[in-house]
Amino acid sequence: MASHAGAITLVVNGSTVTLDPSRDFHPSDTLSSVLRDRLGYTGLKVACDQGACGACTVLLDGRAVLSCMMLALEADGHEVLTIEGLPADDPVIQAFYEQCEPGYGTAMQCGFCTPGFVMAAKGLLNENPDPTMDEVKEALAGNICRCGCYPAIARAVLKAAATMKARAAGAAGAATSGAGSAKEATHA
Ligand code: FES
Ligand code: FES
Repeated sequence: MASHAGAITLVVNGSTVTLDPSRDFHPSDTLSSVLRDRLGYTGLKVACDQGACGACTVLLDGRAVLSCMMLALEADGHEVLTIEGLPADDPVIQAFYEQCEPGYGTAMQCGFCTPGFVMAAKGLLNENPDPTMDEVKEALAGNICRCGCYPAIARAVLKAAATMKARAAGAAGAATSGAGSAKEATHA
């Protein structure tokens, strides 16, 4: 069946979704409202609904955006990643979960801000896999945590970066030794 004129197509967490303006959304709907209310991705939160808290952060083609500040129409043809699209062993999720340290504390208390911080951190690490503490603080400056977990959140992001680096080194090492074994096998 042909799509209605004005239909938009988003790829959300790897799944292609076509939304028809005659029944699925209104042209003035924000991306956050379509993701939450129409598609059920309630991980992202809408707190201020005016670009001031970061709770609604998602990735658009790998970059962190405030989904309350853009129209769903503007995401047409783009890839959207919400926290539901991350695997359980995602290094940022794991670092937030495990963070608990004297002097820093925990990265999560009530957890309301967490999806926004995690996605903002993902956006940072996509662009800069080895950030300094200052770069982490700057990248997350638009996100608000009412529980005041800022030091632990920043610390968790640095740990996630270290984990990503270690995993990449492990994968590269495995690939090299795999290639070595293959070479040895062909010369055996
Ligand atoms: S809900 Fe989007 S920035 Fe606050
Ligand atoms: S953990 Fe409660 S708002 Fe951040």
